[in-house]
Amino acid sequence: MKETLEKLRAAALTAIADAPGAKRLEELRVKYLGKKGELTAILKQMGGLSAEERPVIGQAANSVRESIEQALEARGAVVEADALERRLRDEELDVTVPGTEACIGRRHPISIVLDEAKDIFVGMGFSIAEGPEVELSVYDFDRLNIPQSHTVREWSDTFYVAEDESVHLRCQTSPVQVRYMEAHSPPIRIISPGRVYRKDEIDATHSPMFHQIEGLAVDRGITMGDLKGTLNAVLQRLYGADTKTRFRPHHFPFTEPSCEVDVQCFVCSGAGCRTCKGEGWIELLGAGMVHPKVLSGCGIDPEEYSGFAFGLGLERMTMLRFGIDDMRLLFENDMRFLGQF
Ligand code: PHE
Repeated sequence: MKETLEKLRAAALTAIADAPGAKRLEELRVKYLGKKGELTAILKQMGGLSAEERPVIGQAANSVRESIEQALEARGAVVEADALERRLRDEELDVTVPGTEACIGRRHPISIVLDEAKDIFVGMGFSIAEGPEVELSVYDFDRLNIPQSHTVREWSDTFYVAEDESVHLRCQTSPVQVRYMEAHSPPIRIISPGRVYRKDEIDATHSPMFHQIEGLAVDRGITMGDLKGTLNAVLQRLYGADTKTRFRPHHFPFTEPSCEVDVQCFVCSGAGCRTCKGEGWIELLGAGMVHPKVLSGCGIDPEEYSGFAFGLGLERMTMLRFGIDDMRLLFENDMRFLGQF
């Protein structure tokens, strides 16, 4: 029996020394020391031993148990340390390795200038209104006093959506004026930025889709002086305090009187150059005093109220702001170009 015990000790110690991990060690503990384990099995046979043999075998059995327990504990400490080291190695994080750069993109130059313009107008008490891009011809033409004979109403100029010409892609942001005046009574101060569509050939200064910022102020006693003061202040904020403007008489069906507004060429300061095509001035927007017919069509009494309106070309503003000489660059989505802003 003593021999059996010694064999058990030897087998157990070898197995324990070879155990690769904590799981295997637990299996071995159960196998040798568990209630149904091999040592227990041997001890159960002690009943058949003589009174002299019993304490001897008992001692030997205890010694085997102790050495197995010690071996389990020692090997346990080793595999635990190994596991920890492996984990530290696997989960190693080198904080000095350069990170992967997150590409968050950037604002389009048109958005940059639009945001600047919004800030300026909002600071002057204007709020922002929006209208549909697919517009009723009633709003984009009739209510704006644009006669049936006007060239803009021809199929060669406008993207009609309906055969009967009742719906089209708006060719200006001015219908938002009508929509807003219909729904609100004076005092009114809004700007309305958005896309507009015209059947223009694409070239360096034209695109069938572009952006405008419409402006409208209606109140008692609004004059052309308010229009000039407002636009001068805005353009000087956008292009610098020494920006010079020029108001030329013009015609729009929905304003009376009407004007076009130019800024003095910032490249040549008015002498004439390529940027301004030798003019010394760059046309930036159309404006005027809201036509009494447009006011009364929206339920506003032109005897009591007056207003000014203007329409700024956002692409033109952006090109001037950043010195861009070809409008197509704004729409081609070339990251080499867009990444510069
Ligand atoms: N809607 C005009 C255009 O597109 C611009 C404009 C707006 C003129 C408001 C006067 C008043 O040319």
